[in-house]
Amino acid sequence: MSGVVYYFSATGNSLYAAKVIAKKINAEVVQISYNTEKLYNQNIIGFVYPTFYWGLPEMVATFVKNLNIKGNPYIFAVTTCGLSSGGALGQLNDILIKKGKCLHFGETIRTVANNITKYRIKQKSIQKLVRYENKKANEIAQAVAQKQKNKIPKVGIISRAFYQLYLKQYANSDRGFHITSDCTGCGICQNICSADNIVLKNGKPVFKHQCQNCLACLHWCPKNAIQWKNTTVGKQRYHHPNISYHDLKIKNK
Ligand SMILES: Cc1cc2nc3c(=O)[nH]c(=O)nc-3n(C[C@H](O)[C@H](O)[C@H](O)COP(=O)(O)O)c2cc1C
Ligand code: SF4
Ligand code: SF4
Repeated sequence: MSGVVYYFSATGNSLYAAKVIAKKINAEVVQISYNTEKLYNQNIIGFVYPTFYWGLPEMVATFVKNLNIKGNPYIFAVTTCGLSSGGALGQLNDILIKKGKCLHFGETIRTVANNITKYRIKQKSIQKLVRYENKKANEIAQAVAQKQKNKIPKVGIISRAFYQLYLKQYANSDRGFHITSDCTGCGICQNICSADNIVLKNGKPVFKHQCQNCLACLHWCPKNAIQWKNTTVGKQRYHHPNISYHDLKIKNK
């Protein structure tokens, strides 16, 4: 049996779930980024990604649209989210249906919500949510190993409308970032950006306006030197406790 689990992840929630599932089914874990390596002739293909505005990160949608899926593999998807995943599974299924394929199994994992431009992360809740994610990821891994099937919810009108808000602003959302004088020019933000949206000029990050709005740069900056407008100052940054910068760093950069 050969399998691949493709993941997109900013703060590690989705990568953690992808790893748990891949271990169980003995599959490769492959990062979706601007330079993703595509693997062909797989019997099992999985996609694990965060919910953005009740839909898919744009890079995941484009990746799946362009993926050449040969034969008739078992296909599953898992989306991690803070509260509700809306149409994030249904949207992926719709893309696959247009390619003559479909999702056989899809699940949502509720875990730590990382969009600190909108709210604060409660430190007290992290441990509990991470434990829950681990339990749910193991249950999903079991289901995937048995090639279980379930019904994928259709994308509703409200999900579609909410997702339009993301589509309207994601690429330019980096215009809201500013870099404080605490920046040391370490390059971590550049190396963690799956969209290749950051270059260091004179030792400081500059954004190229091809952003995914994932917030990886903001959460992983060791100096908290990346702020979004005036909404993230003084707020705790987050990453999954079992996922490191080296796990998420863009490969072959
Ligand atoms: C731009 C953005 C939009 C988000 N939209 C949603 C959403 O619609 N619903 C939700 O429950 N969580 C939402 N979240 C929270 C993430 O889906 C959640 O924290 C996810 O587990 C992060 O995964 P990661 O650690 O793999 O990046 C959003 C986060 C970001 C950054
Ligand atoms: S990660 Fe932070 S400190 Fe390092 S270059 Fe980027 S903004 Fe500067
Ligand atoms: S610039 Fe930051 S928010 Fe935008 S895609 Fe890169 S890491 Fe994500």
